[in-house]
Amino acid sequence: MNEITPVTDAATNAEPVKAVPTLPDAQTVTAVKHWTDKLFSFRVTRPSTMRFRSGEFVMIGLMGDVNPKTGKQKPLLRAYSIASPSWDDELEFYSIKVQDGPLTSKLQHIQVGDEIILRPKPVGTLVHDALIPGKRIWFFATGTGFAPFASLLRDPQTYEDYDEVIITHTCRTAGELTYGAELIENLKQDEMMIELLGQENLDKIRYYPTTTREESPKMGRITDLMRSGEAFTDLGVDPINPDSDRAMVCGNLAFNLEIKDLLEGYGLEEGANSKPAQYVVEKAFLD
Ligand code: A2P
Repeated sequence: MNEITPVTDAATNAEPVKAVPTLPDAQTVTAVKHWTDKLFSFRVTRPSTMRFRSGEFVMIGLMGDVNPKTGKQKPLLRAYSIASPSWDDELEFYSIKVQDGPLTSKLQHIQVGDEIILRPKPVGTLVHDALIPGKRIWFFATGTGFAPFASLLRDPQTYEDYDEVIITHTCRTAGELTYGAELIENLKQDEMMIELLGQENLDKIRYYPTTTREESPKMGRITDLMRSGEAFTDLGVDPINPDSDRAMVCGNLAFNLEIKDLLEGYGLEEGANSKPAQYVVEKAFLD
C-alpha cells in the first residue's frame, strides 16, 4: 500500500482513529497581530471558569522540543501579563519576539486556530487591591511592560478609583509604541468602550510616550524626564506626592529599580496584595 491509497469502506469502518492529543490546558488562538519585527500580540479563548483581576499574569506557552534521551516533551511556560481586561470573553497577550528565545522563537509563529498552553491560575501585584486609595494613578511601562496597563486601562475600576490616570511608555523606537498608542486611541473612539467606561472617565487618561533610540515627538527615558521635572511640565501636573499619587510599574529590571528609587524619593511606599501601599512593581516578561 502506498501513501495515496484511497480510503476504502473497510478503512472507514475500522476502529475510530484516535484524536491527536491536544495540549494540556489548551486554548485556541483567535487573533494574531504583528506590530514590529520584535513585537506581536495575540488573543486566545478564555477558559469559562477562569477569573482574574485586571493587571495579573498567567503562565502560558507551548510544548518544548522532544528530549532526544527520553523521547518526552515538556511544556515550555513563561509568565505573561494578561493584556485584556477582566470582563473580556477572550484573553490578550503582548509579546516580544526573541529569535533564539526558547519560547518566543516558536510562539511568534502561532496562527489563528493553533493551540497554546495556558495555566489558568492568575497572580500578580499590579492590581488595584495592592494600592491604598489615592487621587491620581501613574502607570509606568517600558517595552512589553505596557501589557498589564492595556488591561487596567480598559477596566472601569481604574476610573472609579482615580480622578486622573497617567500612562507613560518608554521604548527604543517609535514603532514599539504603536500597540499602546493604538489601544489608547481606540479606547477613546470605540463606542462600546465609551459606553462601558464613560467619556468623562476616558478624558482622565493622559498618555506620555517617549523613545530613546529613534526620533519621536518626545525623546528620553521617563526616569530622566521625571528627575529633570520635564515630564511634569509637559503633562502640566504637579510632581508626585505620597498623599495623592499611586503608581504601578512594569518594565525591564534596570528600569524597575530606577523608578522604585525615584518613587521612594517622592515618599511613596511599596505595596503588595497582603499589604496595600502606594506603589507596586512587576517585571515585564523577557525570553
Ligand atoms: P535605552 O534605550 O536608553 O536603554 P529594553 O528594550 O532594553 O527593554 O528597553 C526598553 C526601554 O526602556 C528603552 O527605551 C530603554 O532605554 C528604557 N530603559 C532601559 N533601562 C532603563 C532605566 N534604567 N530607566 C529608564 N528607562 C530605561
